Amino acid sequence: MSQRTLFRRGFTLGPALSIGDRSNLSDLSRWHDGLPVLLAGQCTEYLKNYHSDIEQTEDLVRAVLAEKACDDVLAATPYLERLEPKFVSLGSSFNEGDAQEIEMVMFDAMNGDDIIAEDLWLKASWLSFHDDDVSLRFRFSFGIDLEQDVASDPERQALASELSDAVFPESAIITNDSGLHEKLGAILEGKKANFVERIIYFNGPSGGAYLHHDLERGHAGVVFAQLTGSTFWLALPKQSLIEEIILFSKTHPWPESLTMEMRREMSDLVGDRDYLAVQLDSFSNTSLIHLINETQAFIQFLIARGHGIELSPGDNLLLPQSDEKRCCWHSVFCLGEEMGQALSFAIRAD
Ligand SMILES: [Fe+2]
Repeated sequence: MSQRTLFRRGFTLGPALSIGDRSNLSDLSRWHDGLPVLLAGQCTEYLKNYHSDIEQTEDLVRAVLAEKACDDVLAATPYLERLEPKFVSLGSSFNEGDAQEIEMVMFDAMNGDDIIAEDLWLKASWLSFHDDDVSLRFRFSFGIDLEQDVASDPERQALASELSDAVFPESAIITNDSGLHEKLGAILEGKKANFVERIIYFNGPSGGAYLHHDLERGHAGVVFAQLTGSTFWLALPKQSLIEEIILFSKTHPWPESLTMEMRREMSDLVGDRDYLAVQLDSFSNTSLIHLINETQAFIQFLIARGHGIELSPGDNLLLPQSDEKRCCWHSVFCLGEEMGQALSFAIRAD
């Protein structure tokens, strides 16, 4: 497969092209319209400072892929010295009900002999169930996953972020970037950006993410930093995505991979914007999921309409997620043969 061909979870999706006017992609005002903001080369300077940490993380990923327990790796040098005495591992848990989960390591945060926070965790997960895709991520948070209202406990949220600094010091490529802080300060109208609900991604060949949003109460958006490898993105506000699906239906036949029943369903959907929006948000309409993520015709249509962005090492991408209307939906593809590392941190404006 050519390095420039989009290929994800068994679907070949055509050439990875950046089409349209690229000159204004770094315009910060795009944020307020729910559009992605590309900060090309924003963190290039920082990459060399954290080169050895990035290599250390690659060793951790190799260990996970070799089915070693994260908890054991974190109990040895250099992790142990960075974690303790503040963060004490309580061991791993394995959730039988979540097939994507690899391992969840739980921690208490300590001040001397006193526990100052419980139930902080690092969770390693696969990104898909596809045999050819070994993409994985490490996510930091606390409490009961997907149930905890993380915005209601900023202290534990801050400690989960500190835990990610200890395991992945290259997190500072985002958190210590004064130029990035300045730009986010302008976007957030003088408020300070805090980086929470952190994820360290490894997108491998055939991997990536289907179109989704990262809307969460208390978060203004997401900053993504490509550290190694390359990714290709489709990113656009939800309202634009709805309009593009409708325009596609008026200008293209339904792709052949859609059965007659799926075509009928899609024809009904594009006739009713509100219903289309509800079905998008449900993430369960298989006809819609197939069309927008697994057909070359629709992927190439979005690229031709100017929604494609390529990220190389050193590039940052800002994805506004402040409210449902202006939230930037995004789809990610791994470009090339390298399993690349990236940081994806939610932005909380304080
Ligand atoms: Fe996302």
